[in-house]
Amino acid sequence: MERRAFIKSSCNGCLLAASGLLLSRLAASCSPAFPVFKTEVINGEIQLPLTALGSSGFQIVRPKGWYYDIAVRKKEDASYEALLLKCTHQDNQLTPSGSGYGCTLHGSQFDKDGRVTKGPAEHPLQSYTTTLTRDQLIINIKA
Ligand code: FES
Repeated sequence: MERRAFIKSSCNGCLLAASGLLLSRLAASCSPAFPVFKTEVINGEIQLPLTALGSSGFQIVRPKGWYYDIAVRKKEDASYEALLLKCTHQDNQLTPSGSGYGCTLHGSQFDKDGRVTKGPAEHPLQSYTTTLTRDQLIINIKA
């Protein structure tokens, strides 16, 4: 193989490898860390099938047309909690972490029950009451 042909084929191989690595990293960064259940509010309620909660007992709910997600969590006493993931400091979308929710804008942290653990936020997250039926969790938005 001539030197020029060798360099050309080597560069093509490097480009292919680099593009594959880039695509895999891009795909990983676009994957949500937590599953998202997309739904809509009907008559002031969100109906979440219990099967959507799975064994983890945790689900991010994304109502159609809403800017903020709702985090639904099964508590230790088997009741359910629904928290609006809207930072109470300056309304930034929160992201779930292992122990609660964090704000990337100014660093506020909230525990899994929505209480402030680190400011500048001073108020807990908005929560919604929930009603359990045989196979669904109803999140009461209008209450
Ligand atoms: S908006 Fe969340 S800490 Fe400021």
